[in-house]
Amino acid sequence: MSTLHLAGFMHSSHVVLSHAIWRHPQTELGFLQPEFYQTIAQILERGKFDLVFFADALALPDQYGNSPEVGLQYGAQGMVRLDPMLVATVMATVTQHIGVGITRSTTYYQPYDLARTFATLDHLSNGRAAWNVVTSGRTAEAKNFGVEQHLDHDRRYDRADEFIQVTAKLWDSWQPDALILDQESGIFADPSKVNYVNHEGEWFNVRGPLTVPHSPQGKPVIIQAGSSDRGKDFAAKWAEVIFEIKHTPAQMKVFYDDIKSRLSQFGRHPDDCKILPTFTPFVGETEAIAKEKQSFHNDLIHPLVGLFTLSSHADYDFSQHDLHQPLVDIPFKGLRGLLEVAQELTRSQNLTLADVGRLYGQGVLAPQVAGTPQQIADWMENLFRAKACDGFVISPAHLPGTFTEFVDWVVPELQQRGLFRSEYATATLREHLQLPTVRQPVEV
Ligand SMILES: Cc1cc2nc3c(=O)[nH]c(=O)nc-3n(C[C@H](O)[C@H](O)[C@H](O)COP(=O)(O)O)c2cc1C
Repeated sequence: MSTLHLAGFMHSSHVVLSHAIWRHPQTELGFLQPEFYQTIAQILERGKFDLVFFADALALPDQYGNSPEVGLQYGAQGMVRLDPMLVATVMATVTQHIGVGITRSTTYYQPYDLARTFATLDHLSNGRAAWNVVTSGRTAEAKNFGVEQHLDHDRRYDRADEFIQVTAKLWDSWQPDALILDQESGIFADPSKVNYVNHEGEWFNVRGPLTVPHSPQGKPVIIQAGSSDRGKDFAAKWAEVIFEIKHTPAQMKVFYDDIKSRLSQFGRHPDDCKILPTFTPFVGETEAIAKEKQSFHNDLIHPLVGLFTLSSHADYDFSQHDLHQPLVDIPFKGLRGLLEVAQELTRSQNLTLADVGRLYGQGVLAPQVAGTPQQIADWMENLFRAKACDGFVISPAHLPGTFTEFVDWVVPELQQRGLFRSEYATATLREHLQLPTVRQPVEV
């Protein structure tokens, strides 16, 4: 039987999906210090996780009331973001096995710069690097890069398609055996094995070659999280891991079947891409204790902090609406899937905008699962066996405690059931994830 894969969800920041993390009394407020992240990496590695992953964005959110005020006041998501590449690097230096995934945008970086950075991380981590490819959906991000209006949705994906192809060429610009390093003869490298890429396209002209030799994985593992039709096709073409936030098991199953069937359209096997839905565990010795932990956490949320983040994710200012009225229908921008869930919850549970804000702040509508280690393992096992996922992304409610509890209580239960590795049996992240060794570049 195949086994499931686990990732830890992180931001290089005071919160992740839960906006209560920074004010939870069990959280250690070390998010500006390397030890905070290194401890998390070591805990997750003790739990044999495949990887730890950092989401990222390139602007301080200010859609709510056209100002960052509420977000700064209550500590919303995105008010602090260290550069996750540097954070991941310090984590890699104190671990040997766990993968490190970092988000980088194809809209505001250049392929050469990005290819070089990830090849470097792959070397420094001995083959544990992953890249979460995002196209950056928010106007605020455009304004930090001298652009008044960012590219429209499909044009961002056009650029991303070419971007990823150029990076693949750059990563191949050094053949694996180009370095000779013969100290006696004085021959450093074989010049015939280091090649210009001479890419000329609609978006980029890049000559290459890279200044970084072929890295242990050849290419970092590609992560993606699109939910539009175009986004899902992009994922089916390129992604080797997909992170998703789906509110219910039924939505997870629909998404899983959809992506797996799209993979064959791009000549790929269903196992070539692992689909990992996100949830927040609350583990207790009894179900009652777990539920108490869950409500304690959820009660820490101010409704405005969630609305602030929903405004940022939807790229829409919700401050213009009455908090005591239901969420209004707005034109879809930003994170469509999550906004649809918020609208559906509003209808089915008769929620006000303030209720939606509270829910959104609790974890961006990712499911929360509260129970004993056995109950949480049951929930995971059922989804895995129903082929609704290939594993999970664990999103914390406090740090590092959520990860410690999950690793100490839930992981042994999964291991006993034969659902998860007891030791790392492989060296690189690509191998942990049972992905094909090298992906060939696909012509755009
Ligand atoms: C679990 C998850 C993590 C994401 N992480 C990021 C991120 O770090 N940075 C970002 O700009 N977008 C992030 N996104 C947004 C996606 O990359 C994508 O832009 C969004 O889902 C909209 O896709 P679509 O335009 O195809 O609908 C994330 C989405 C999900 C579901």
